[in-house]
Amino acid sequence: MGVHEKVNILMVDDQVGKLLSYEVILADLGENLIKAQSGKEALDHLLKSDIAVILLDVSMPELDGFELAEMIRQHPRFNRTPIIFISAVLLTDLDRLRGYERGAVDYISVPVIPELLRAKVSVFVDLHRKTRQLEILNLELRRLSSSLIAAQDQERRRIARDLHDGLGQELSGAKMMVDCIQMQNQSIEWKEQAAAEASALINQAIQQVRSISHLLHPPMLDEIGLQSSLRWFLDGLTKRSGLETSLEIQPEDFPRFGSELETTIFRVVQEALTNVFRHAEARRACLHLTLREGQIVIRVYDDGKGIPDSVADFEADKLGVGIAGMRQRVQELGGELRLRKGNPGTLLEALIPVKSAPPNSAGQFSTSQGFRR
Ligand SMILES: Nc1ncnc2c1ncn2[C@@H]1O[C@H](COP(=O)(O)OP(=O)(O)OP(=O)(O)O)[C@@H](O)[C@H]1O
Ligand SMILES: [Mg+2]
Repeated sequence: MGVHEKVNILMVDDQVGKLLSYEVILADLGENLIKAQSGKEALDHLLKSDIAVILLDVSMPELDGFELAEMIRQHPRFNRTPIIFISAVLLTDLDRLRGYERGAVDYISVPVIPELLRAKVSVFVDLHRKTRQLEILNLELRRLSSSLIAAQDQERRRIARDLHDGLGQELSGAKMMVDCIQMQNQSIEWKEQAAAEASALINQAIQQVRSISHLLHPPMLDEIGLQSSLRWFLDGLTKRSGLETSLEIQPEDFPRFGSELETTIFRVVQEALTNVFRHAEARRACLHLTLREGQIVIRVYDDGKGIPDSVADFEADKLGVGIAGMRQRVQELGGELRLRKGNPGTLLEALIPVKSAPPNSAGQFSTSQGFRR
């Protein structure tokens, strides 16, 4: 439920005139007013709509207010729906007690004071709206935490694969060479050659360890800054994959930002370019990082086969953890992620707002994560 979405208020009275007067009194709340002239009609509405609060006339023919309240309370879906009784008769303390025992949250006597009725109803309307929003947030939180677990699992599998297929192979190769060197029946030249090959393989293994550990956590972001970290990542990608990359940053003296924002920029670039390498069949990829008009814009272009429309439209079942994760990170900072089919290739664009700095630091920007220089 959106903040401005109307909630339903159910008014139950056998007299049309009274229903109309409640309608006039409550019209100012701007909510959805539903009228019912009998208990049966009220139950029908309850089953069909999500009701925030019920205004219930105590004395009605056939099913009176107390009986109706009891029936409503027995239904598990409605046992917390607030009921306000309205009555011109049956106003002794004992009657009120009877009402409260049947789940009334309030008791209003006739003649109704319009301001009082409006104030009481609006309290329950607010409560209902907040409860619904909490439920939605809870649901979202559960969805996020399960996708986080899935992402962790996938990340572990990826690391395991890198360790096994990359590092494992190089170390096995190096071990084979060293085992051969120990054998007696080989010439000195052969052994020298094998030692050189083993050393080269161990060098590659060291490189791999460095890359894996940097990709897992880019420690250099803090030390060498965002610009150098991005250059390091692009150079490494080109070396490993053969993908031509270029980097353009504006302004040239791009300021430092808080680590949450810098990490988001780095992770978005990392995932976007890894996707280009894995999926795009591209020759070239360009990264533009721009700070202008109060926002940071990250643009990653490639000249590959183009992203499927369903992914560009963020259809949930077509996304992997990569794009969903990038979008989540960007949205957490109040920004937006866009994907577009280029001609050729794909354009990924992340827009992240940054707050203008106070007047005494002209030309600089800050974010809620804090500004660093
Ligand atoms: N630059 C691109 N060019 C073409 N297709 C792309 C590009 N980037 C993403 N895709 C498509 O979008 C899909 C979803 O990408 P996403 O990053 O969410 O998941 P993934 O890369 O498949 O897996 P992972 O969760 O490991 O990132 C990819 O499987 C691929 O089909
Ligand atoms: Mg991906």
